[in-house]
Amino acid sequence: MLQQVHGHSSGSDAQSRASLRGDLQDFLGGEAPLHQLEDLTKVNPVTLETVLRCLQARYMADIFYTNAGCTLVALNPFKPIPELYTPELMQEYHVAPQPQTLKPHIFTVGEQTYRNVKSLIEPVNQSIVVSGESGAGKTWTSRCLMKFYAVVAASPTSWESHRISERIEQRILNSNPVMEAFGNACTLRNNNSSRFGKFIQLQLNRAQQMTGAAVQTYLLEKTRVTCQASSERNFHIFYQICKGATKDERLQWHLPEDATFSWLPNSQRTLEEDCFEVTREAMLHLGIDTPTQNNIFKVLAGLLHLGNIQFATSEDEAQPCQLMNDAKFRRIMVLL
Ligand SMILES: Nc1ncnc2c1ncn2[C@@H]1O[C@H](COP(=O)(O)OP(=O)(O)OP(=O)(O)O)[C@@H](O)[C@H]1O
Ligand SMILES: [Mg+2]
Repeated sequence: MLQQVHGHSSGSDAQSRASLRGDLQDFLGGEAPLHQLEDLTKVNPVTLETVLRCLQARYMADIFYTNAGCTLVALNPFKPIPELYTPELMQEYHVAPQPQTLKPHIFTVGEQTYRNVKSLIEPVNQSIVVSGESGAGKTWTSRCLMKFYAVVAASPTSWESHRISERIEQRILNSNPVMEAFGNACTLRNNNSSRFGKFIQLQLNRAQQMTGAAVQTYLLEKTRVTCQASSERNFHIFYQICKGATKDERLQWHLPEDATFSWLPNSQRTLEEDCFEVTREAMLHLGIDTPTQNNIFKVLAGLLHLGNIQFATSEDEAQPCQLMNDAKFRRIMVLL
């Protein structure tokens, strides 16, 4: 590490700085192209500059995963790279005798964790921590891991167990669109920003097949329902119901096409996350039937109407507030 020196530096400090600069130049101007370095622990000397230069060189060469010892650094490519996530590639990492010898990938982490559970006589829980700043790709990475386990942890023998496990995997994957519709929103940094944290537990049986999942969410940014920063949006689900409801549903939920809601800023922007059908389909797979869904969407529509109520400033704070617009209020009472 480069040391910050205050005041006069001693001769040995100056020497070590000069030698570090020499090492740095040797490393950066070395024979081996930087993008070929697959493990950041092999970077020498380890400085912020060498690590970043190495990651930058790999990014420029369209290589988005790099090992850092037992940690994986994932860079967000900000473009779709379908060939990096095919079922065939998942299988390649799954059947590889030593997945860590393959190119760094999120599937290596998935497979090694899977093998750690598998190889032990008494199963031991394994945890994967996905962390990074907003927009770094945490949600994307968790989705990839879940898809990976849905493929590799499903090799049942009988037709019946195949049917059951298929349903479980499908349900586990379907939890993502539902959680994202209700808990994600467009922010300045990320069009699909998770406004909550989550702990996902994938449960395997002794044959290492997926038998279930439990998701715990925490710290949901509830204030976003009533208050959004300019250029940001409310949770996706509100836009989905307004844009995707059928004519009948609009009547039922009191959402006419020309309605405007003060809690729905920037609704003219259409994002790929606005797809209501995906959410509905996923809810159905999770066992939330159409009447229950209708009730949920009615409550959401009611909330939007509630947001349009304006209160008159009261002279006496001890007295109830007067509404600015009585007509709107009556409509809400009917709706709720
Ligand atoms: N590996 C990837 N390949 C292609 N696109 C990606 C990848 N990782 C991330 N992205 C893109 O970047 C966007 C932001 O990623 P993501 O939503 O996962 O960030 P995040 O870390 O969960 O952010 P937040 O903390 O705001 O929720 C994704 O919607 C996707 O478009
Ligand atoms: Mg996220």
